[in-house]
Amino acid sequence: MNRNRCLDLTVVSVDGFGQAEPEQFVLTLSSPGWKWRPGQFAMLRPASFRQDPVWARPLSIAFQDDAGLSFLVQSCGRGTGLMARLKPGETVTVWGPIGTWFASEPETPTLMLAGGVGLAPFLGYAARHPAPDRLELVHGHRLPLSAFPLGRLPEGLGRSEFFLDRGRPEDVARFIGLLESRIKDYAGGLVLACGPMPFLRTVKRLAEAAGARAQLSLESRMACGLGACLGCVTENVAGELVQVCARGPVFWSTDVTLAE
Ligand SMILES: Cc1cc2nc3c(=O)[nH]c(=O)nc-3n(C[C@H](O)[C@H](O)[C@H](O)COP(=O)(O)OP(=O)(O)OC[C@H]3O[C@@H](n4cnc5c(N)ncnc54)[C@H](O)[C@@H]3O)c2cc1C
Ligand code: FES
Repeated sequence: MNRNRCLDLTVVSVDGFGQAEPEQFVLTLSSPGWKWRPGQFAMLRPASFRQDPVWARPLSIAFQDDAGLSFLVQSCGRGTGLMARLKPGETVTVWGPIGTWFASEPETPTLMLAGGVGLAPFLGYAARHPAPDRLELVHGHRLPLSAFPLGRLPEGLGRSEFFLDRGRPEDVARFIGLLESRIKDYAGGLVLACGPMPFLRTVKRLAEAAGARAQLSLESRMACGLGACLGCVTENVAGELVQVCARGPVFWSTDVTLAE
Protein backbone atom coordinates (compact mmCIF):
# COMPACT_ATOMS: atom_id res chain seq x y z
CA MET A 1 0.00 0.00 0.00
CA ASN A 2 1.20 3.54 -0.71
CA ARG A 3 2.10 5.81 2.16
CA ASN A 4 -0.50 8.53 2.29
CA ARG A 5 0.18 12.22 2.73
CA CYS A 6 -1.62 15.38 3.79
CA LEU A 7 -1.26 18.32 1.40
CA ASP A 8 -2.84 21.68 0.69
CA LEU A 9 -4.00 21.60 -2.93
CA THR A 10 -5.52 24.35 -5.06
CA VAL A 11 -8.90 24.18 -6.77
CA VAL A 12 -8.37 24.09 -10.53
CA SER A 13 -12.04 23.86 -11.51
CA VAL A 14 -15.53 22.86 -10.40
CA ASP A 15 -17.45 21.62 -13.44
CA GLY A 16 -21.15 21.44 -12.69
CA PHE A 17 -22.08 20.34 -16.22
CA GLY A 18 -23.70 23.69 -16.97
CA GLN A 19 -25.95 23.79 -13.90
CA ALA A 20 -25.93 26.91 -11.70
CA GLU A 21 -26.51 24.90 -8.49
CA PRO A 22 -24.96 21.57 -9.47
CA GLU A 23 -26.35 18.38 -7.95
CA GLN A 24 -23.26 16.64 -9.23
CA PHE A 25 -19.91 18.04 -10.32
CA VAL A 26 -16.30 17.23 -11.11
CA LEU A 27 -13.90 18.85 -8.66
CA THR A 28 -10.34 19.11 -10.00
CA LEU A 29 -7.45 19.95 -7.69
CA SER A 30 -3.83 20.72 -8.48
CA SER A 31 -1.87 17.49 -8.82
CA PRO A 32 -0.55 16.09 -5.52
CA GLY A 33 1.96 13.91 -7.38
CA TRP A 34 0.59 10.77 -5.74
CA LYS A 35 0.78 7.22 -7.02
CA TRP A 36 -2.78 5.98 -6.49
CA ARG A 37 -4.85 3.00 -7.54
CA PRO A 38 -8.51 3.08 -8.66
CA GLY A 39 -10.73 2.31 -5.68
CA GLN A 40 -8.62 4.35 -3.27
CA PHE A 41 -10.04 7.51 -1.80
CA ALA A 42 -8.95 10.78 -0.20
CA MET A 43 -10.25 12.89 2.69
CA LEU A 44 -10.96 16.45 1.54
CA ARG A 45 -11.35 19.49 3.76
CA PRO A 46 -11.71 22.82 1.94
CA ALA A 47 -10.58 25.91 3.86
CA SER A 48 -14.12 27.21 3.29
CA PHE A 49 -15.43 24.61 5.79
CA ARG A 50 -13.91 26.88 8.50
CA GLN A 51 -15.24 25.37 11.77
CA ASP A 52 -18.37 23.78 10.25
CA PRO A 53 -18.21 21.03 9.17
CA VAL A 54 -15.31 19.96 11.36
CA TRP A 55 -14.44 16.70 9.64
CA ALA A 56 -13.03 16.17 6.15
CA ARG A 57 -15.19 14.27 3.63
CA PRO A 58 -14.18 10.98 1.94
CA LEU A 59 -14.25 10.91 -1.88
CA SER A 60 -13.08 8.26 -4.35
CA ILE A 61 -10.29 9.39 -6.63
CA ALA A 62 -11.95 9.45 -10.06
CA PHE A 63 -9.21 10.28 -12.53
CA GLN A 64 -6.02 12.24 -13.08
CA ASP A 65 -4.72 14.10 -16.11
CA ASP A 66 -2.55 17.12 -16.91
CA ALA A 67 -5.15 19.42 -15.32
CA GLY A 68 -4.88 17.68 -11.94
CA LEU A 69 -6.62 15.15 -9.71
CA SER A 70 -10.39 14.87 -10.13
CA PHE A 71 -13.32 13.71 -8.01
CA LEU A 72 -16.91 13.12 -9.11
CA VAL A 73 -19.08 14.53 -6.33
CA GLN A 74 -22.78 14.39 -5.58
CA SER A 75 -23.94 17.38 -3.55
CA CYS A 76 -26.01 15.86 -0.75
CA GLY A 77 -25.24 17.74 2.48
CA ARG A 78 -23.37 20.63 4.02
CA GLY A 79 -19.83 19.49 3.15
CA THR A 80 -20.43 18.53 -0.46
CA GLY A 81 -22.67 21.61 -0.86
CA LEU A 82 -19.75 23.83 0.15
CA MET A 83 -17.49 21.93 -2.25
CA ALA A 84 -19.92 22.70 -5.11
CA ARG A 85 -19.35 26.41 -4.44
CA LEU A 86 -15.53 26.26 -4.43
CA LYS A 87 -13.78 28.67 -6.81
CA PRO A 88 -10.47 28.20 -8.68
CA GLY A 89 -7.54 29.16 -6.48
CA GLU A 90 -9.19 28.19 -3.16
CA THR A 91 -7.35 25.76 -0.89
CA VAL A 92 -8.40 22.21 -0.03
CA THR A 93 -6.48 20.14 2.51
CA VAL A 94 -6.33 16.59 1.16
CA TRP A 95 -5.20 13.42 2.90
CA GLY A 96 -4.52 10.43 0.67
CA PRO A 97 -4.39 8.19 -1.19
CA ILE A 98 -6.16 5.99 1.34
CA GLY A 99 -7.20 2.36 1.40
CA THR A 100 -7.44 -0.76 -0.69
CA TRP A 101 -8.10 -0.78 -4.44
CA PHE A 102 -9.89 -2.80 -7.09
CA ALA A 103 -8.06 -5.82 -8.52
CA SER A 104 -6.94 -5.37 -12.11
CA GLU A 105 -6.48 -8.67 -13.95
CA PRO A 106 -5.80 -8.07 -17.67
CA GLU A 107 -6.73 -11.63 -18.68
CA THR A 108 -9.96 -11.85 -16.66
CA PRO A 109 -13.33 -10.70 -18.03
CA THR A 110 -14.34 -7.97 -15.60
CA LEU A 111 -17.76 -6.48 -14.94
CA MET A 112 -17.88 -3.00 -13.39
CA LEU A 113 -21.17 -2.24 -11.64
CA ALA A 114 -21.79 1.38 -10.66
CA GLY A 115 -24.69 2.91 -8.77
CA GLY A 116 -25.00 6.68 -9.30
CA VAL A 117 -21.88 8.54 -8.24
CA GLY A 118 -20.35 5.10 -7.62
CA LEU A 119 -19.18 5.50 -11.22
CA ALA A 120 -16.28 7.61 -9.89
CA PRO A 121 -13.60 4.93 -9.29
CA PHE A 122 -14.42 3.15 -12.54
CA LEU A 123 -13.49 6.21 -14.61
CA GLY A 124 -9.89 5.82 -13.48
CA TYR A 125 -10.09 2.02 -13.43
CA ALA A 126 -11.21 1.73 -17.06
CA ALA A 127 -8.82 4.45 -18.25
CA ARG A 128 -5.84 2.62 -16.71
CA HIS A 129 -6.85 -0.97 -17.50
CA PRO A 130 -4.42 -2.64 -19.93
CA ALA A 131 -7.24 -4.49 -21.76
CA PRO A 132 -10.38 -2.27 -21.73
CA ASP A 133 -12.00 -4.55 -24.33
CA ARG A 134 -12.33 -7.14 -21.53
CA LEU A 135 -14.28 -4.68 -19.38
CA GLU A 136 -18.04 -4.30 -19.23
CA LEU A 137 -19.82 -1.46 -17.41
CA VAL A 138 -23.39 -1.42 -16.09
CA HIS A 139 -24.33 1.95 -14.60
CA GLY A 140 -27.63 2.57 -12.82
CA HIS A 141 -28.33 6.29 -12.40
CA ARG A 142 -31.06 8.71 -11.38
CA LEU A 143 -29.49 11.92 -12.69
CA PRO A 144 -29.38 12.29 -16.49
CA LEU A 145 -26.28 10.87 -18.15
CA SER A 146 -25.24 14.44 -19.03
CA ALA A 147 -24.35 14.82 -15.31
CA PHE A 148 -21.59 12.20 -15.65
CA PRO A 149 -18.17 12.68 -17.32
CA LEU A 150 -18.60 9.66 -19.57
CA GLY A 151 -15.99 11.05 -21.97
CA ARG A 152 -13.46 9.78 -19.42
CA LEU A 153 -14.28 6.17 -20.31
CA PRO A 154 -11.89 4.62 -22.86
CA GLU A 155 -13.19 4.20 -26.40
CA GLY A 156 -12.34 0.50 -26.55
CA LEU A 157 -14.57 -0.49 -23.61
CA GLY A 158 -15.94 -3.98 -24.28
CA ARG A 159 -19.56 -3.20 -23.51
CA SER A 160 -21.56 -0.67 -21.52
CA GLU A 161 -25.18 -0.40 -20.46
CA PHE A 162 -26.90 2.47 -18.69
CA PHE A 163 -30.09 2.15 -16.68
CA LEU A 164 -32.12 5.26 -15.84
CA ASP A 165 -33.93 4.81 -12.51
CA ARG A 166 -36.98 7.10 -12.70
CA GLY A 167 -37.89 6.33 -9.09
CA ARG A 168 -40.81 4.07 -10.02
CA PRO A 169 -41.28 0.90 -7.90
CA GLU A 170 -40.83 -1.32 -10.96
CA ASP A 171 -37.43 0.29 -11.75
CA VAL A 172 -35.73 -1.45 -8.81
CA ALA A 173 -36.94 -4.87 -9.97
CA ARG A 174 -35.89 -4.14 -13.56
CA PHE A 175 -32.43 -3.01 -12.46
CA ILE A 176 -31.95 -6.11 -10.30
CA GLY A 177 -33.02 -8.20 -13.32
CA LEU A 178 -30.38 -6.44 -15.45
CA LEU A 179 -27.70 -7.03 -12.80
CA GLU A 180 -28.63 -10.70 -12.56
CA SER A 181 -28.55 -11.20 -16.32
CA ARG A 182 -25.09 -9.65 -16.61
CA ILE A 183 -23.50 -11.17 -13.48
CA LYS A 184 -24.45 -14.73 -14.48
CA ASP A 185 -22.03 -14.45 -17.44
CA TYR A 186 -19.10 -13.87 -15.05
CA ALA A 187 -18.72 -17.26 -13.36
CA GLY A 188 -14.96 -17.42 -12.73
CA GLY A 189 -14.65 -13.77 -13.74
CA LEU A 190 -14.36 -10.61 -11.72
CA VAL A 191 -17.23 -8.38 -10.62
CA LEU A 192 -16.45 -4.95 -9.12
CA ALA A 193 -19.12 -2.73 -7.57
CA CYS A 194 -19.41 0.74 -6.07
CA GLY A 195 -22.66 2.37 -5.04
CA PRO A 196 -25.28 2.51 -2.28
CA MET A 197 -25.46 -0.28 0.30
CA PRO A 198 -28.72 -1.94 -0.94
CA PHE A 199 -27.13 -2.16 -4.40
CA LEU A 200 -23.94 -3.70 -2.92
CA ARG A 201 -25.99 -6.28 -1.00
CA THR A 202 -27.72 -7.29 -4.23
CA VAL A 203 -24.40 -7.55 -6.10
CA LYS A 204 -22.91 -9.66 -3.29
CA ARG A 205 -25.85 -12.09 -3.35
CA LEU A 206 -25.96 -12.41 -7.14
CA ALA A 207 -22.19 -12.67 -7.63
CA GLU A 208 -21.79 -15.36 -4.99
CA ALA A 209 -24.74 -17.31 -6.46
CA ALA A 210 -23.17 -17.07 -9.93
CA GLY A 211 -19.70 -18.19 -8.78
CA ALA A 212 -18.09 -14.86 -9.65
CA ARG A 213 -15.36 -13.29 -7.54
CA ALA A 214 -16.63 -9.90 -6.41
CA GLN A 215 -15.09 -6.84 -4.84
CA LEU A 216 -17.28 -4.18 -3.24
CA SER A 217 -16.35 -0.59 -2.35
CA LEU A 218 -18.19 0.30 0.86
CA GLU A 219 -19.37 3.85 1.52
CA SER A 220 -19.51 3.82 5.32
CA ARG A 221 -20.07 7.14 7.06
CA MET A 222 -16.63 8.41 7.99
CA ALA A 223 -15.23 11.00 10.36
CA CYS A 224 -11.46 10.69 10.88
CA GLY A 225 -10.65 8.47 7.86
CA LEU A 226 -7.56 7.37 9.78
CA GLY A 227 -8.68 4.29 11.69
CA ALA A 228 -8.97 6.24 14.94
CA CYS A 229 -12.67 6.91 15.63
CA LEU A 230 -14.41 3.57 14.81
CA GLY A 231 -17.10 5.58 13.01
CA CYS A 232 -16.95 3.52 9.82
CA VAL A 233 -17.00 -0.13 10.92
CA THR A 234 -18.48 -3.05 9.01
CA GLU A 235 -18.79 -6.70 10.08
CA ASN A 236 -16.49 -9.30 8.60
CA VAL A 237 -17.45 -12.96 8.23
CA ALA A 238 -15.61 -13.81 11.47
CA GLY A 239 -18.09 -11.56 13.26
CA GLU A 240 -15.50 -8.85 13.95
CA LEU A 241 -16.07 -5.14 13.36
CA VAL A 242 -13.45 -3.77 10.98
CA GLN A 243 -12.80 -0.16 9.99
CA VAL A 244 -13.72 0.55 6.38
CA CYS A 245 -11.20 3.41 6.17
CA ALA A 246 -8.30 1.31 7.44
CA ARG A 247 -9.17 -2.16 6.03
CA GLY A 248 -11.21 -1.08 2.98
CA PRO A 249 -12.96 0.58 1.31
CA VAL A 250 -12.66 -2.27 -1.23
CA PHE A 251 -13.43 -5.73 0.22
CA TRP A 252 -13.92 -9.15 -1.33
CA SER A 253 -17.65 -9.85 -1.05
CA THR A 254 -16.99 -13.11 0.79
CA ASP A 255 -15.08 -11.28 3.56
CA VAL A 256 -17.94 -9.04 4.73
CA THR A 257 -21.53 -9.73 5.80
CA LEU A 258 -23.13 -6.35 4.87
CA ALA A 259 -25.63 -7.17 7.62
CA GLU A 260 -28.50 -4.64 7.97
C1 LIG B 1 -14.61 5.54 0.63
C2 LIG B 1 -15.69 6.51 0.23
C3 LIG B 1 -15.69 7.03 -1.04
C4 LIG B 1 -16.68 7.96 -1.41
N1 LIG B 1 -16.64 8.45 -2.68
C5 LIG B 1 -17.54 9.37 -3.06
C6 LIG B 1 -17.46 9.95 -4.37
O1 LIG B 1 -16.59 9.63 -5.19
N2 LIG B 1 -18.39 10.89 -4.69
C7 LIG B 1 -19.36 11.28 -3.80
O2 LIG B 1 -20.17 12.15 -4.15
N3 LIG B 1 -19.47 10.74 -2.58
C8 LIG B 1 -18.57 9.80 -2.17
N4 LIG B 1 -18.65 9.27 -0.91
C9 LIG B 1 -19.73 9.72 -0.04
C10 LIG B 1 -19.38 11.10 0.53
O3 LIG B 1 -18.28 10.96 1.41
C11 LIG B 1 -20.57 11.67 1.29
O4 LIG B 1 -21.64 11.91 0.41
C12 LIG B 1 -20.18 12.96 1.98
O5 LIG B 1 -19.25 12.72 3.02
C13 LIG B 1 -21.40 13.65 2.54
O6 LIG B 1 -20.96 14.80 3.23
P1 LIG B 1 -21.92 16.05 3.43
O7 LIG B 1 -21.29 16.93 4.42
O8 LIG B 1 -22.29 16.65 2.11
O9 LIG B 1 -23.23 15.37 4.01
P2 LIG B 1 -23.67 15.25 5.51
O10 LIG B 1 -24.82 14.34 5.51
O11 LIG B 1 -23.87 16.61 6.09
O12 LIG B 1 -22.44 14.53 6.21
C14 LIG B 1 -22.44 14.27 7.59
C15 LIG B 1 -21.40 13.25 7.94
O13 LIG B 1 -21.69 11.99 7.40
C16 LIG B 1 -20.65 11.53 6.58
N5 LIG B 1 -21.33 10.94 5.43
C17 LIG B 1 -22.55 11.25 4.97
N6 LIG B 1 -22.89 10.46 3.95
C18 LIG B 1 -21.85 9.64 3.76
C19 LIG B 1 -21.60 8.60 2.86
N7 LIG B 1 -22.48 8.19 1.93
N8 LIG B 1 -20.40 7.98 2.92
C20 LIG B 1 -19.50 8.36 3.83
N9 LIG B 1 -19.69 9.33 4.73
C21 LIG B 1 -20.85 9.95 4.69
C22 LIG B 1 -19.84 12.74 6.25
O14 LIG B 1 -18.46 12.42 5.98
C23 LIG B 1 -19.99 13.51 7.50
O15 LIG B 1 -19.10 13.06 8.49
C24 LIG B 1 -17.70 8.35 -0.51
C25 LIG B 1 -17.68 7.81 0.78
C26 LIG B 1 -16.70 6.90 1.14
C27 LIG B 1 -16.70 6.33 2.51
S1 FES C 1 -13.55 6.99 9.86
FE1 FES C 1 -12.60 6.99 11.84
S2 FES C 1 -12.03 4.87 12.03
FE2 FES C 1 -12.75 4.99 9.99
